[in-house]
Amino acid sequence: MLATIPFNLEKISKADVDKELLRAAIIAELDAINLYEQMANLATGKDLKIIFLDVAREEKTHVGEFQALLLKKDKEQQHELAKGKEEVDDLLK
Ligand SMILES: [Fe+2]
Repeated sequence: MLATIPFNLEKISKADVDKELLRAAIIAELDAINLYEQMANLATGKDLKIIFLDVAREEKTHVGEFQALLLKKDKEQQHELAKGKEEVDDLLK
């Protein structure tokens, strides 16, 4: 069965709960960034556009907070994130 949010906590091992919560939180923040940037593009008032873009930027900080904690708890993710960056750097140099 595919993953869902909110998820069924009974199916998650105790060792994985916080990691899954952090991943779900990152997904929510990324979705919020897209939403606020889209709303900024739709806004007719300059003041509302400014506020949406500021909130979108704050959501990016939230992604960083959740990611920082996830990387402390998931060393495999930490390693693979670095590996992904290296692969992009190699492909684009
Ligand atoms: Fe947020």
